[in-house]
Amino acid sequence: MSGMPVPHDPRRHHEPTPEDPTEFWERRYAEKPQIWSGRVNQVLAEVAGQLTPGRALDLGCGEGGDSLWLAGQGWEVTAVDISTTALERGRAAAKAAGIGADRIHWVAADLAAWEPGSDYELVSAFFLQSPVELDRSRILRAAAARIVPGGHLLMVSHAAPPPWASGLAGHEHHRTFLTPQQEIAALDPADGEWEQLIVETRQRAATGPDGQSGLLDDAVVLLRRNRA
Ligand SMILES: C[S@@+](CC[C@H](N)C(=O)[O-])C[C@H]1O[C@@H](n2cnc3c(N)ncnc32)[C@H](O)[C@@H]1O
Repeated sequence: MSGMPVPHDPRRHHEPTPEDPTEFWERRYAEKPQIWSGRVNQVLAEVAGQLTPGRALDLGCGEGGDSLWLAGQGWEVTAVDISTTALERGRAAAKAAGIGADRIHWVAADLAAWEPGSDYELVSAFFLQSPVELDRSRILRAAAARIVPGGHLLMVSHAAPPPWASGLAGHEHHRTFLTPQQEIAALDPADGEWEQLIVETRQRAATGPDGQSGLLDDAVVLLRRNRA
């Protein structure tokens, strides 16, 4: 009955059990045969297009659009994601594009428990954000520690929820939105450890899941490890 206060029953106020990240992302990818565009993120093309190819680590690679592009540019890529479904799509796309199996090493792993096994000239993290548990700072710190002197860390994340987030039942917006400066602070950098090449919020036109047009705010950070 409207207007009548509901008696408080403390037994009804349990915190919901947090959803397992693997299950969440597998369910998300199972919704459609393809979730992301398959195209490279534009900022990656702009930045990495200026670099000499070497070893790259793509954190939370999804269906592999960025990894495929990097491999096509001559990078040797390690592409890590928690979803085997997403990785299978990436692998199939690489095969269809004629990219040799030796160019992209696909790794199915929860980054929270994964340790990079190599050093890298480039580590990229594009929209490594999640509505379920994700210790993003720890993951980025561990990966950043494996960047060689002169190597780059490129992080691009949603700096605010998309305008269509409120209408997305079951697809609530990513919970953590950091400014570019907060992204850097979360790395807990030592004095002089990094040169800050890009630290800014950029707006980007995008289309929502129901065809809505909107502007998204991206926090863009590009750091270069100073030579020892
Ligand atoms: C928003 S998507 C971004 C995908 C891709 N980087 C892109 O720009 O299209 C986030 C990705 O992070 C992955 N992810 C989330 N939590 C993860 C974790 N703990 N370990 C590894 N990958 C994770 C998801 O499976 C998903 O593919």
